[in-house]
Amino acid sequence: MMDQDRYFDAVASKYDSLYDNPLSQGENLLVAEDIAVLIHSAANKVQSILDIGCGTGLMLDMTPHFGCADARYVGTDLSETMLRRLREKHATRSNTETHRCDMNTFDLRNLKEEFDLVLSTFGAFSYVKDPLNFLQDVKHILKKDNGHLLVMAYSRFSVQNIWARLKQQNPKYTDAVRPYVYRNDSDSSSNGPLTRFHTSASLTEAAHRAGLHRISVKGLNFFLDSTGNKPASTENAIKALREERLQIPLPDLSHSLILTASNYE
Ligand SMILES: C[S@@+](CC[C@H](N)C(=O)[O-])C[C@H]1O[C@@H](n2cnc3c(N)ncnc32)[C@H](O)[C@@H]1O
Repeated sequence: MMDQDRYFDAVASKYDSLYDNPLSQGENLLVAEDIAVLIHSAANKVQSILDIGCGTGLMLDMTPHFGCADARYVGTDLSETMLRRLREKHATRSNTETHRCDMNTFDLRNLKEEFDLVLSTFGAFSYVKDPLNFLQDVKHILKKDNGHLLVMAYSRFSVQNIWARLKQQNPKYTDAVRPYVYRNDSDSSSNGPLTRFHTSASLTEAAHRAGLHRISVKGLNFFLDSTGNKPASTENAIKALREERLQIPLPDLSHSLILTASNYE
């Protein structure tokens, strides 16, 4: 196993606790809101979800918030420890499957199924080595008239990255590829896995070239991580996250970019 894979296994047992705070819960709810908006125009009910790099299933936890509590759910991840945690949390949920596979080598078509909704959230898409190839594969397994996609990648020119570059006088902080430790993880024994940082332009272009439609990129969390003054409740957090989005029309300045697209015009 490579060091990179070990990082994900090691972080799995504490993963949920890293995000058990009002700001992270507000982020989860805002992403669930984005999914609800995305699938609002679906011709048919969204009945199947593929979650690539699903981790411990934070998005499975969110399905009731976007009206898909009963949908079939297939989660894939490189880390068996993450998947085990997901299965423990959702032991009684029916219509739930997990597969251990590397998103960079596994051919999604092996799943032999088409999905209404494909997700890859909270940075998971930042571990994809060839975004265009990946999105082309995803297009193949999205339903033709009812397929939707939401993926999230770390933003290359986030306020934090630009600030770190200026403060440390080191251009590596705005590199497109560099090792990165999860935002709330204080583990200094690892440099973190090799991570790809994206721009709204690069994501839009890849989605367009993959033949997807209704492409949109939004930002998530611009300044809230950088101030000592974090929201005290989930309600305050979601309000602040919505306001930031309205006030700052440049998604690239945010921590995470959210790409949404559909497989129909
Ligand atoms: C930041 S976590 C996000 C987890 C989940 N999507 C969420 O919203 O909480 C990134 C996940 O991507 C997984 N991952 C990293 N590289 C991968 C790869 N090459 N193939 C499949 N999963 C991978 C990690 O194991 C980890 O669970």
